Amino acid sequence: MENHKLWGGRFAEATSPCLEKLNRSIDLDKRLYEEDIEGSKAYAKALLKIKLLTEDETEAICDGLDIVKVEWKKGIFNILQGDEDIHTANERRLKELIGAPATKLHVGRSRNDQVVTDMKLWMRSNLRLLDEHLRGLISIIVHRASHELEVMMPGYTHLQRAQPVRWSHYLLSHAWNLKNDSDRLGEILKHTNIMPLGSGALAGNPFNIDRLSLAAALNFDDITQNSMQAVSDRDFIAEFLFWASVVGIHLSRLAEDLIIYSSKEFEFVTIGDSYSTGSSLMPQKRNPDSLELIRGIGGSLFGQCCSFIMVLKSLPSTYNKDLQGDKEAMFTTFDKLTSILEVTAGTVKTLKVNPGKCKSALSFEMLATDVAYYLVRKGVPFREAHHLAGQVVAAAEEKGVNICDLTLEELKLISNHFGVDIGKVWNYENSIEQYQATGGTSKSSVLKQIEKLQSWLGKILPTEK
Ligand code: ARG
Repeated sequence: MENHKLWGGRFAEATSPCLEKLNRSIDLDKRLYEEDIEGSKAYAKALLKIKLLTEDETEAICDGLDIVKVEWKKGIFNILQGDEDIHTANERRLKELIGAPATKLHVGRSRNDQVVTDMKLWMRSNLRLLDEHLRGLISIIVHRASHELEVMMPGYTHLQRAQPVRWSHYLLSHAWNLKNDSDRLGEILKHTNIMPLGSGALAGNPFNIDRLSLAAALNFDDITQNSMQAVSDRDFIAEFLFWASVVGIHLSRLAEDLIIYSSKEFEFVTIGDSYSTGSSLMPQKRNPDSLELIRGIGGSLFGQCCSFIMVLKSLPSTYNKDLQGDKEAMFTTFDKLTSILEVTAGTVKTLKVNPGKCKSALSFEMLATDVAYYLVRKGVPFREAHHLAGQVVAAAEEKGVNICDLTLEELKLISNHFGVDIGKVWNYENSIEQYQATGGTSKSSVLKQIEKLQSWLGKILPTEK
């Protein structure tokens, strides 16, 4: 039997190799080595305060843990067969390095409060990294939007031509979603930054450890108030996974739009060479693989969320080993989301917009709503105006011409309110410029959006305390 198992005392026989393999989480949770060491050092100092460690022992533990950290950093930490998880591995190595004092470190602590503390520390810094990626992408979009204000394109609903809009307005629609994602991330950070350490296995800490100063030392905002709740709480992971799924949906939507817009049928945009791939068979192909990967992975993020929620469902109170799966969900989601955020940023930055193609996709029937608005401005109630504009569309269809080619006489047959000034309606820019109210596609409104997002981006990130 391995002598460094943390729980080997009451067992006479060795663990079955197949269980040992299934139980082992070190290959994944070694990513928490730094957080585990940070938590242990702070815990050792808290033990010193309540005299469960001497000054010398505390110093030996902290110095030893620093050596362990360097070993991980340099990639020379030797993982042994019996290293079940990162907590076991670090403690085993510490004992090899400093001997007896290492065996006192775990007093009053359990891997149950240790693991969730490590994860919260990891999440805290990595959520900030994700936020930087999000902001980077938003600033690329805002930059494009401010330089491509004059490009007009069809806006679609149901993927049918609806109303003319500015390309910048379209682009910014994605930036606003991502900004909301960033705001939501701030909320998750708040929920995450509550320290569970000092909850023990489930009942609490029997040595009256000073949890508040421990939390302050680890830069947590607060401490959990119920040890049984604290060791089982993975809501911050569930929230993160759900959040990542929503970001995935947003990126997938943008990717899907751009896949359509980059097709020969549209040609609104050309994806940069560095973000497209070719076909091994058809030499003419330029495939938007980057965008397809974003779209696909965007969906698989929800798979992680769904599968972890299913793990949580029906668990009894406090810690259960099912929870060990939380790391896989957390790391996979983080890695996948990071890579699609990077690729989205690169793709959006390098794509070329083709203003001519965008404009030539505009067609006069897209101004039918404007005909109704023209009549409304002449005092016709909207429902009636909508009906009359419908008649204009039908008359043009019947005659086989564009609505703008109907003569004033023909229009007057439909409504007496039509006058020569209807000519001004047959202009896409005029159509776009009507939408001056906040949130619309007029130039002034788009400029306001750009200004708002720029000032939001300029705000300093909540720094690591
Ligand atoms: N590796 C474990 C996990 O990630 C640590 C907690 C183990 N606790 C226990 N009671 N077996 O969940």
